[in-house]
Order: sequence, then structure tokens, then C-alpha cells
Amino acid sequence: MAVLRIAKMGNPILHTPAAPVADPMAPEIAKLAADMRDTLEDIGASGLAANQVFVSQRVVVYRMIASRIPDDSGFGPVPWTVMVNPVITPLDKEKQTYWERCLSIPGLHGKVPRWPNIKIAYQSLDGNNIEQEAIGTWSALLQHECDHLDGYLYPMRMTDLSLLSYNDEPGPLAEDAAAGSKIDPLFQRLVDDWPGRPRWLGD
Ligand code: NI
Repeated sequence: MAVLRIAKMGNPILHTPAAPVADPMAPEIAKLAADMRDTLEDIGASGLAANQVFVSQRVVVYRMIASRIPDDSGFGPVPWTVMVNPVITPLDKEKQTYWERCLSIPGLHGKVPRWPNIKIAYQSLDGNNIEQEAIGTWSALLQHECDHLDGYLYPMRMTDLSLLSYNDEPGPLAEDAAAGSKIDPLFQRLVDDWPGRPRWLGD
């Protein structure tokens, strides 16, 4: 088991496009993926791209746990998944916005335009070509992770930076939740835990 150090925003590795993996079945890729999963489990997080742990290769590890899925999302939990050389194809004409956080940008969250429906193609660790469709916050998570591989962090995708906030001052998020938006329960907890909420939004 190895818990890896995570690069933070500003580190050049995060802004450098990652290289394609020549052999998804190579033992060092399996080892990398196992260490990335260990790192995510240690933090209790959902997704990581290899360049966030200083390996500039096109590998993403993620999961969707039930407690992170908004009600009526139309999809269920996704077990730990390793994606090698993932490629996303949007299935929509218009983006929607989703609240996101990033292990490389601790303490902040923001609302980011993403395609609500995508197709994603990748190779698995046993060398199979996998293709599947993803929707909603699942789709947004996959776009977030694949963006890392291209050197993009979520604030670089935001079109309204007034929606970028500290986790302990989640004003725009609290307004969005109060307006009835369906949000990831992790973000709802930020709102619930915000001592300033009654002052600014009422009970
Ligand atoms: Ni991230």
C-alpha cells in the first residue's frame, strides 16, 4: 500500500498534458493504479488522475459511492474503475453546471459547465477496450478527471468565477441549494455545516 503525494494547483505537472500509455497491461500501470486507489481510500475521495500524483501518463482511477449521488440522478454506484487512455465524446449540444472540488485545489469549490451526457472510451488494465455512457454528476466527474490529463483544472473551465468559494464560506452553493437544485450530498453537507447560513439565508 502506498499513499501518494498530490500535486497542488501551480505545480507544472498539473498543466502539462499527460502522455498516452503504450501498454495498459504493463505491471507498472497496475501498480500505479493500485497506489492511486490507496491514496483515494486514505483521503475518502472519489477520483484522481495520474499527473496529480506526479506521473504524467493517461490513467484515471475513480468510483461513485452511493452517498455522493444526488437523488433521482438516474444512475447508481460505480465500483473502483481504472481508465487508461480515456477519450470523452459529448452527447449534448449544451452544457449544464455542476459543483466540483479537486484534491489539487484544497479548500475550494466551484460551479463548472460540463456536458450532462457523454460517451467515454478507455482501456482497462487487462487490455480490453471499454465504452460506456455516463450522465449527470458522474459525467461531470469523468470530464473533471480527463481534463487533468490534458492539463486543465476546473477553475480553467469556469465561466463565472463568482461561483468559486472556500468550503467554509459556501455562499453561492448555499443559495443554489436553497433554490432547490439537486446537488451532490457532499456539497449539501458544506451548506449544512456553514455557521453563517442562518445569517445570510435564514433557516
Ligand atoms: Ni481534480
